[in-house]
Amino acid sequence: VQITFIEHNGRQHRIDVPEGESLMQAAQNNMVPGIDADCGGACACATCHVFVADDWIARLPAVSDNEDAMLDVVETRLPGSRLSCQLKAEPSLDGLVVTLPASQR
Ligand code: FES
Repeated sequence: VQITFIEHNGRQHRIDVPEGESLMQAAQNNMVPGIDADCGGACACATCHVFVADDWIARLPAVSDNEDAMLDVVETRLPGSRLSCQLKAEPSLDGLVVTLPASQR
């Protein structure tokens, strides 16, 4: 499943993510800067925040109540805001592009 991470400075990382792995895990495994994932994927820190491109918003699984509550504490919440630990790679996500907030670097 090909996912592209774009750092706040524009640097792109195109990663082949195994099915079932979270985008947060993939970013960490591939040393994408800016995904600290302090809580280890428990939906409790919001340091794995990413913005998905507008045309992808409706194509992703819905935001859970937990994720929604955590997204309320991030510095900049946009319509495309998601926690990358809550997004698992699946074939329908192939080609997804996510951008990292400037506050994460
Ligand atoms: Fe902590 Fe995603 S890793 S909320």
